[in-house]
Amino acid sequence: MKLQIAIDGPASAGKSTVAKLVAKKLGYVYCDTGAMYRATTYAAKKNHVAYDDDQGLKEMLEKTEIRFVPAEPEQKVFVNETEVTKTIRLPEIANNVSTVSAQKSVRADLTERQRMIAEKGGIVMDGRDIGTTVLPNAEVKIFLVASVHERAVRRFKENVEKGIDTPLDVLEKEIEERDYKDSHRKISPLTQAKDAVLVDTTSLSIEEVVAKIMEIIEKVQK
Ligand code: DC
Repeated sequence: MKLQIAIDGPASAGKSTVAKLVAKKLGYVYCDTGAMYRATTYAAKKNHVAYDDDQGLKEMLEKTEIRFVPAEPEQKVFVNETEVTKTIRLPEIANNVSTVSAQKSVRADLTERQRMIAEKGGIVMDGRDIGTTVLPNAEVKIFLVASVHERAVRRFKENVEKGIDTPLDVLEKEIEERDYKDSHRKISPLTQAKDAVLVDTTSLSIEEVVAKIMEIIEKVQK
């Protein structure tokens, strides 16, 4: 049976790294729903639609295709004909994506797209509301968490590799703020689904987290 696997959790808990590896092991498709919210934010900027203009964003999305194209080392993201894989990670997008993702029309539109992508199963989807709203019937639901400090340390190390120099305490503050915004918005806030399995990655390596999730999946497959 080709399962639907939902992986939710706060920013920087390691969702995308782990989701990609799990998808690879199973030969499933990986869908990064955060990238879809980021791509929408990119399209809003490009089309000069205000980030909080619910109606304007709705109309814009009717003319906007968001596509994932398989590639190594990572899949590419396209908005219509433009590749935006790297652009959607820039601060201009990152700083505005919570406003865009809080709009009702945006959530309705992207939720519909995500359900279509997951329809036939064989999918690992990561985000904030996959187990609660997008795929409430997913056979496997994981809620991935890690302490604020641990997530800041991970982000700090990634930044050092990229030559970005942000103090650890600033990163901790940014993560706390993002957690607050993600869990307090009106529509589809970040919450653990009742039937999701909580996996705390604070003291685990990536390999250990993947192994834990594979164990949970194997139990469901039996
Ligand atoms: O996972 P990420 O950092 O790429 O997500 C970007 C933003 O999109 C983040 O502010 C939360 C939001 N998001 C959301 O509201 N719902 C999802 N299913 C995925 C992401």
